[in-house]
Amino acid sequence: MTYIPEDILQTIREAADIRQVVQEFVPLKKRGRNWVGLCPFHPDKDPSFTVNEDKQIFYCFGCGEGGNVFKFLMKIQGLSFQEAATTLAQRYGITIPKRPVSTTERKKRELNEQLTEINLAASQYYSKLLCSSLSAQPARDYLNKRGLDEQTLKAFNLGWAEDKWDGLIVFLKEKGFPLELAEQAGLIIKRTKASGWYDRFRGRITFPIKDHRGDIVAFGARTIGLPGQEEQPKYINSPESPIYHKGKVLYGLFQNKSSIRKSGFGLLVEGYMDVVSLWQSGVREAVASLGTALTEDHARRMKGVSRDWILLFDADDAGLKAASRALPICYKTGIRPKVLVLPKGEDPDSFVRQHGQKELYSLLKAALSGIDFLIETGKERFGTDTEGRLKTVELALDAIATVQDPVRKSLMVGQVAQKLGVREESLWQELKKRTQRPRLIKNLPGEGKDDKKSASSLIRVGNKAEEKVIGFLLSYPQFMDRFIELNPELWIENKTVSELWSAILHLYSMTGRVNLSDLYQRLEHDHALRSMAMRLASAFPPCTDVDSMVRDLESYCLERKKRALRMQIMQQMRELGEEEDSESLLKSLQSLR
Ligand code: UTP
Ligand code: MN
Repeated sequence: MTYIPEDILQTIREAADIRQVVQEFVPLKKRGRNWVGLCPFHPDKDPSFTVNEDKQIFYCFGCGEGGNVFKFLMKIQGLSFQEAATTLAQRYGITIPKRPVSTTERKKRELNEQLTEINLAASQYYSKLLCSSLSAQPARDYLNKRGLDEQTLKAFNLGWAEDKWDGLIVFLKEKGFPLELAEQAGLIIKRTKASGWYDRFRGRITFPIKDHRGDIVAFGARTIGLPGQEEQPKYINSPESPIYHKGKVLYGLFQNKSSIRKSGFGLLVEGYMDVVSLWQSGVREAVASLGTALTEDHARRMKGVSRDWILLFDADDAGLKAASRALPICYKTGIRPKVLVLPKGEDPDSFVRQHGQKELYSLLKAALSGIDFLIETGKERFGTDTEGRLKTVELALDAIATVQDPVRKSLMVGQVAQKLGVREESLWQELKKRTQRPRLIKNLPGEGKDDKKSASSLIRVGNKAEEKVIGFLLSYPQFMDRFIELNPELWIENKTVSELWSAILHLYSMTGRVNLSDLYQRLEHDHALRSMAMRLASAFPPCTDVDSMVRDLESYCLERKKRALRMQIMQQMRELGEEEDSESLLKSLQSLR
């Protein structure tokens, strides 16, 4: 990661023109003081995407996406902040001074570059074999049989590893790559009895796995039913390496991320072939977690391109279980998951090949919300007698416990209560028990006198800062998600500000956006809140440097949140006395230091 000093960032900010940059991706027309076009971040029929040159910001009235030129590039190209800034610097001829890096860091970086380079070379070698070598005829036949055409093979850089012990080795030697490096990349394996190495992938079709930047970090490889392959695993994958962590990479994400952004949803599938075959049928929203259970890192990457995901799993027991396990992880990262179980015996690849893109999309409309899926499959798996329903409740609560958004959470609790015939209060009680994170424990914030006193100094300065946070969010609602995570409801002390925050949160949960006129209307009967909203919004000065403003406010909010949590936990411990749970509370407390 390149470190970019603040003054250079400032230079980039001043040089970069948001309209110019946006126009490379989105055709814009002048309308009044703004420029408008079709939003690249959601399916958009009327141009609801606006660019304001004076303020150097973009905002979409359809999906609420907005921000400055950095944010735009980050979103549209899936870049990190540093990458976006570097791209802009290059474009506007600004040199980013090289920060002196430590030797170990530099070595690590060099190694990673070399590893991706050797993977690229290997991939090109495999691809070339697939398209032109005689030995690849069975592979071409196999892919043909599976219905894949040339364009698809190219789009995913599929290749062929010959059924030889040293095909790749000979090639890499010829190109002058050190074989130790190839071993580290997982391409070849050291012999145990003799000296030297042998090729890992033999007699298999190769699927390069790209990271979010498009660098090849690993390979998957499938047998094609050659004699002798019956005993071997169908797919093998590169081992973990300095550049490949299987819990962090999703197959197909690089190729499909722009389509996912455009469609406004993604599909999580199980295998390489599913991603590739769906792509060929025009379904370009799929990514695969490749035989590993979904991790939080995966989910965060997914959320980076869309909040709405449909989990497409096989109808077998393994598929159902995988879906149940993936749901809490999705909720935890703020993804809105749905689940579609395919007809028995089908996987996405076989389904789309048989029925085509249209039918798959119409099937997707029938996907169940995550919680409905848990309830429905729970009923089927465990039955509807008391014991069975209890098990289903357990499963549903495990998922609900991870939901961050309070409104969503309470809707889900309502659903479970209704569909399984349980009282809502009992569900809330159960939830309270299983929630490790103390932020959901109600009725506690700083009742004790000591807490009040120790916090009082902060509160006094706090009031103005609390107002500032709200004023900021009313002016830059695109940051709502980030601030929701900091739970202002836990720590805002000023009563009116706190009520205003609730109103904003509610509006946002219901409509997915915050704008002043909606808020104004909603607060019709509450003049105090209404005038405060208007005052805070209009008093907030336009930021010249939104990013640093966000950083400041965020760190302020985080401090307040931690303090509030600490007070809650201490209160809890006083109530619990010596009971066992105080140990886990103590741990939470330590993690908040
Ligand atoms: P599946 O067995 O469902 O295979 O495994 P698939 O995706 O339908 O593949 P095709 O259609 O037979 O070609 C799903 C995923 O689990 C991993 C692979 O990532 C595969 O895509 N897997 C499966 C392995 O890693 N090793 C195996 O031996 C099998
Ligand atoms: Mn399959």
